[in-house]
Amino acid sequence: MKRGVLKLVASYLVFRKESLPKGGHGIHSPFVFDLYTNIIAREERNTFFEVIEGYRKELLKCDIGIIRKSIAESLNGGFRGELVKLSRLANLVAVPPHLGRLLFRLVNHFNPANTIELGTSVGISSLYLALGNPNGKLYTIEGDEAVYGIASKRFELFHLNNVHAICGTFETELPKLVKELDSVDFVFIDGDHNGSKLLQYFDIILPKLNENSVVVIDDIRWSDEMEDAWRAISTNKRASVSIDIFRCGVLFFRAGIVKQNFILRYGPY
Ligand SMILES: C[S@@+](CC[C@H](N)C(=O)[O-])C[C@H]1O[C@@H](n2cnc3c(N)ncnc32)[C@H](O)[C@@H]1O
Repeated sequence: MKRGVLKLVASYLVFRKESLPKGGHGIHSPFVFDLYTNIIAREERNTFFEVIEGYRKELLKCDIGIIRKSIAESLNGGFRGELVKLSRLANLVAVPPHLGRLLFRLVNHFNPANTIELGTSVGISSLYLALGNPNGKLYTIEGDEAVYGIASKRFELFHLNNVHAICGTFETELPKLVKELDSVDFVFIDGDHNGSKLLQYFDIILPKLNENSVVVIDDIRWSDEMEDAWRAISTNKRASVSIDIFRCGVLFFRAGIVKQNFILRYGPY
C-alpha cells in the first residue's frame, strides 16, 4: 500500500540522518566517490534536457485526456477504460527532471549496449535513456496501449532508431526479451511499485547482468513492501555496490569491490 505523507516524511528524516552530506565527503570507495562527484551530482546544461523538458511542457499545457487501454485489467493503479489527462502523466507519473538527467548521465557514461526499461508511459524517461546513449539499444516495455502509442509517436518524431518499444506486460515480455539478449547492461525499473513483482523482475534479469551492468530502481520508498524489496535486492551477493538516493536505488555488480551500501543525497533530497 502506498505510504501516506507522514510515513514518507518519517522515512525521509531517517534518510537525512543516515546519508552522507552533498559534496562527496566521507565516501571512502574510490569508485563511488568518482561516480558521485563526476556523474551523479554533476549538473551541467545540455540541449537534450531542454528538448525533453520541452516535450513535457507540451503535455503539461495540453488539455487532452486519453482512455487507458491496459492490457491487464489494471496496471499500477490505472484501470482499463479510465480517463487520464496527458498533463497528469507528464507531471505526476513521469520521472522528475533531476532523475531524468541522472539517467542520461549514467547511460552516457557507461554506454550500455542493451538497456531495458520497465514502464514507458508517455516516454519521458525513455527519451533521457535513448538520447544519452545513442549507440546503445533501448528496449522499453509498456502494458497500456494508449500511452504506448503516444510514446511511440514521440520516438518517431525524434527519429530515434535505437529505441525498441514493446507493448505488453512485464510478466510476459520481460522473460522473452531477457532470453533473446546476450547481455543486459542497464535496467531502469519504473513500473508496478509492487515489492514482490520487483523481486521477480530482478530474478529474471540477474542471470544476464554482467560486471559492468547498472540497475536503477525508482520509487523504492513508495511503500513498506517496496523498501523491503529494495533492501533484499541490495543485499543480493552479486550486487557489490548499492547506492540509495532516497527516491531511487542504484546497483552495480563489479568484482574486486568490497560489498557496501551508500546513502547519498542527490537533487532535492
Ligand atoms: C510510473 S509509469 C512509468 C513512467 C515513465 N518511466 C516515465 O518516466 O515517463 C509506470 C508505467 O508502467 C506501466 N505498467 C505498470 N505495471 C505494468 C506491467 N505489469 N506490465 C506492463 N506495464 C506496466 C503503467 O501502465 C505505467 O505507464
